[in-house]
Parts: sequence; structure tokens; C-alpha cells
Amino acid sequence: MATTLSWCFTLALFMVILMASISSSLANMANMNVIDKCWRGNPLWRSQRQQLAKCSVGFAGKMINNIGKDVVKYKVTDLSDDPLSPKSGTLRYGTTMIKGKVWITFKNSMTITLQRPLLLSSFTAIDGRGVNVHITGAGCLLVYQVTDIIIHGLRIHHCRAQPPSTVMGPNAKVIPLGQMDGDAIRLVTARKVWIDHNTLYECQDGLLDVTRGSTNVTVSNNWFRNQDKVMLLGHDDGHLRDRNMMVTVIFNHFGPNCNQRMPRVRHGYAHVANNFYQGWEQYAIGGSMSPSIKSEANFFVAPNDVGNKEVTWRKGEKGLWKFYSVGDVLKNGASFNKQTGVGGAKPNYSQEQNFKVVNAMFVKELTSESGVLQCSRSLIC
Ligand SMILES: *[C@@H]1O[C@H](CO)[C@@H](O)[C@H](O)[C@H]1NC(C)=O
Ligand SMILES: *[C@@H]1O[C@H](CO)[C@@H](O)[C@H](O)[C@H]1NC(C)=O
Repeated sequence: MATTLSWCFTLALFMVILMASISSSLANMANMNVIDKCWRGNPLWRSQRQQLAKCSVGFAGKMINNIGKDVVKYKVTDLSDDPLSPKSGTLRYGTTMIKGKVWITFKNSMTITLQRPLLLSSFTAIDGRGVNVHITGAGCLLVYQVTDIIIHGLRIHHCRAQPPSTVMGPNAKVIPLGQMDGDAIRLVTARKVWIDHNTLYECQDGLLDVTRGSTNVTVSNNWFRNQDKVMLLGHDDGHLRDRNMMVTVIFNHFGPNCNQRMPRVRHGYAHVANNFYQGWEQYAIGGSMSPSIKSEANFFVAPNDVGNKEVTWRKGEKGLWKFYSVGDVLKNGASFNKQTGVGGAKPNYSQEQNFKVVNAMFVKELTSESGVLQCSRSLIC
């Protein structure tokens, strides 16, 4: 009798805790942004990981090419790295040796120290949810001439420069690489890429480069901190192919201790919306070679003393660049030297790319869980 009673009591207590956990998670959901709301309320997210692919918005569109019955589910079990003959179980094996669509997860928390830059094949999703994955070392991630890439839930930091080298590439082909400057993630002629909920910091060169004709990119829910050059969109002033570059930058947290390029844009177009800027030193948003930037409903907090209070920086002939600011909130003396011309640089999203930009007053809340999510603690991620 006594044991039955105590068993009932334990069960009741368990139910109460479970309900409390679900209801507090559901309460949190009210404050989630449109991407997170799409999947984070699902208590079965661990077994339904591919649901994430339909949650993206912005220029990447929905990542439906990454999912389906033909996806290979691959689990990383081995933190070692061999750049030329990757062992089965390692991350590099998953990103290069498997044909077709692959959805990569991690068996446990681990730190992977890359021996050389890591190449990704088309139709690859790297999904770090539920464990703590750190990636560091030489490189780091190189998204080179591929499409349909999801990078989610990784901590990428202390990436070092790498002189020209050879590495295993997509479809198990060894390829030669040029000099790598030491960026956390670098896109080169890549299309349809979604970078979501990663924490990026302290790399030798920058945290994210989108270069050489890359386009249809969404950068969302990431936390960028402790970095001089944060995000470069557009290869160099002479690279005219970047005129067609379209990038969406939303729900990210920049800072503390970021100096410049959040982002810096050359040639192309960037929709920068609902981001939280926790200071800067030189500037937050900048560009050259007549880029178009729509800065919309961001929350800018200018640096306290030494830094520059102006959000923007620009190079080149006045009138050629188009920097629009719509609904931005400027705090602590911040200013935005905007263009007052016509057009407003609308992103012209298709239906699947479109999303509602929220009032900037809610941005701090909507970005409060940017970076890698702590999914292991509660039922709902
Ligand atoms: C970018 O996305 C749009 C809309 O999905 C598509 O029409 C266009 O072809 C894509 N651009 C490239 C270069 O893939
Ligand atoms: C959206 O369309 C308008 C009107 O055609 C155009 O001025 C603007 O450049 C377009 N935006 C982009 C990002 O192409």
C-alpha cells in the first residue's frame, strides 16, 4: 500500500513538473520570432528534425531540397579529422563522402579541431541541436560552389588562416584550395544557404564571408561577438558578379565587442532587419560599390564613449549607394545617415521567402535566444 501511494505521488509530481515545463515553454513561444515559432514548440523535434527545413524565410527560401525520403541520416561519433582520407564517423566524412542529401547530427557534445578547411557538399544539413558542438582550427567551414546548405546550432570560433592546401571535397574528390584567411564560415559561389542559431566568435579574419557570386542566403538567429571584421557580403570591389547577391540578415545579435562590418556590403543587396546591435567601434553597417541596403526595425545601441555613434560607413560616390532605414530604433546617441531617395530598396520577396518584420521595440526579446540553443534541458527546445 505504502509503495503504491509513494509511486502515485512520484508519478503525480512528475506530471506536474512536465506540465509546468511545457506551459513555461509555451509561454516563451509567444515571444519567439517567426522562424523559431515554426519548430521550437514541437516536443518531438528530436525525431522530427527535418521539420526545421521548412522554417526558413528570407532569400534562402524554404530548404525543401534538403529533406525527403532519400535523405541519408548521418551521425558524427568521432571528433578526429583527416583532411584527405576522412574516417567514417567524422564530420568531414559526412560532408564530403556521402552522395546525395545528408542530414548530419552529433552523438555527443564534442570539439572538432579541423586540420584543414572543411568543404560541404550540396544538399547538406549540419544540425547541432541537443548537444554542444564546437568547431575550431584551420579554416573553418568552406561552402564552395554548392547549393542547398543548412548550418544550424554550431559554435565556430578561433578559426585560423590556412595556406594553400588540398582537402577531400564533395563526391569524394580531392581538390586543391587557395589561401584561407581564417573565417568561421566562408561562402564562395554558393546558392541557397541558411545559417541559423550559430554562435561565432574570435576568428583570425572574419566570422562570415559571402563572396564570388554567392546569393539567396539567409543569416538568422546567430550570435556574433568578440570580432573585428564580422560579416562581409561581396568579394571585392572588382567582382561585378556580386551585383546579383541577395542576402537576408535577421534576428541576429551583434556584440559585445564587435568592431565593424555587421555587415559590410559590396555591389549587391542586403535586407537587414530585426537585429540587435550591442555597440560597435568603427561602424555597424557599411558598404562600397553602390550596394543597396534596407535596414529595417533593428535595435541599435551606440557604443558608450570611444566609439563612433554613427551606424553607417560608406565609400564611393554619393548617390550611388542606397542605404535605407525604416523603423530602426537608435539608442544611446546612435545616428543613421540614410538615403532619402525614392524606392526604399524593397526586398521583393516571393511568398515562401516573405515574413513579417516586427516592431523594433521587440527585437531585444526576439533575439534573446540567438546563437546556439540549449535544447538538452527541457522537453521543448
Ligand atoms: C534565388 O531564388 C529565387 C527565388 O527562389 C530564384 O528564382 C532564383 O533563381 C535564385 N537564384 C539563383 C542564382 O539560384
Ligand atoms: C524590388 O522592386 C523595385 C521596383 O521594381 C526595384 O526598384 C527594387 O530594386 C527591387 N529590389 C530588389 C532587391 O531587387
